[in-house]
Amino acid sequence: MQVFREKDALKQAIRKVKSEGKTLGLVPTMGALHEGHISLVRNALKETDQVVVSIFVNPTQFDNPEDLKKYPRTPEKDLDLLVKEAKDLWVFIPSAYDLYGDKILSERFDFEGLEQVMEGKFRNGHFDGVGTVVKRLFETIEPNKAFFGEKDYQQLQIIRKLTRIKGLDVEIIGCPILREDSGLARSSRNERLSKENRKEAAFIYHTLLKARDLFGTKSVKEITDWVKKSFENHPTLELEYFEIADSETLKKTDQKINGNQYRAFIAAYIDGIRLIDNIALDN
Ligand code: PAJ
Repeated sequence: MQVFREKDALKQAIRKVKSEGKTLGLVPTMGALHEGHISLVRNALKETDQVVVSIFVNPTQFDNPEDLKKYPRTPEKDLDLLVKEAKDLWVFIPSAYDLYGDKILSERFDFEGLEQVMEGKFRNGHFDGVGTVVKRLFETIEPNKAFFGEKDYQQLQIIRKLTRIKGLDVEIIGCPILREDSGLARSSRNERLSKENRKEAAFIYHTLLKARDLFGTKSVKEITDWVKKSFENHPTLELEYFEIADSETLKKTDQKINGNQYRAFIAAYIDGIRLIDNIALDN
């Protein structure tokens, strides 16, 4: 495994593998790696010849400086996990200067409405920050394919849109959500949950499963009311939003139209920790 801490050395290595006709895969992360991240790395290893995992806690996507400060940083553990996965991985740990230069500022993007719903409503400027750093990573690394988790489905759709509007020549691969045995979507935030709350938090996924069963037989309003009531009866968890939306446009839907694809999305708090999850409704 090779660790690159500045971009020029990485770019040189990339030029070499590309000149040999090899394909390059990128897995962007903010570190604090867990099995969910590793599942993306495994997909990348299957689909491309040389895989780069980037680790960078991106300041511009945090709307709250406290969150940025508190974001878990576990560099040694991350490298241990990665080296166990494959000996020939490349890990890119850039400095802020490498990606941003002197001024750590977001670009402004128009993601044609994708950024205005769900996470966009609750996290000011978040997707401008994500778009900025991912665009810089793409420009620096020029991967053939980049791998993102459906765990952050809205982010995945925004990155797809980013490549289209900016004409970036990279194929975006969406990877399935990896879950704990209980069904809880894997996340670095799960480590902050007490044992009891970690069990309780699986309620989010079980609610999504039930919503999937009801979709098509009950109206979206009935399902939404049922979800809200279920959360009210489950006071350890506080629902921030539940939405059923078109999988492409992320526009909220009132009713199922055959031929369209939909997903259900939840954001909820447990003991002050915010968790998100989603599920495809086309079964
Ligand atoms: P981070 O939260 O570290 O996540 C990195 C990637 O791992 C994302 O594509 C995310 O969707 C994926 N991921 C996280 N948990 C997962 C799970 N349980 N199953 C499958 N995939 C999972 O997302 C970011 O970082 C940042 O916004 C980033 C794209 C790196 C830009 O800074």
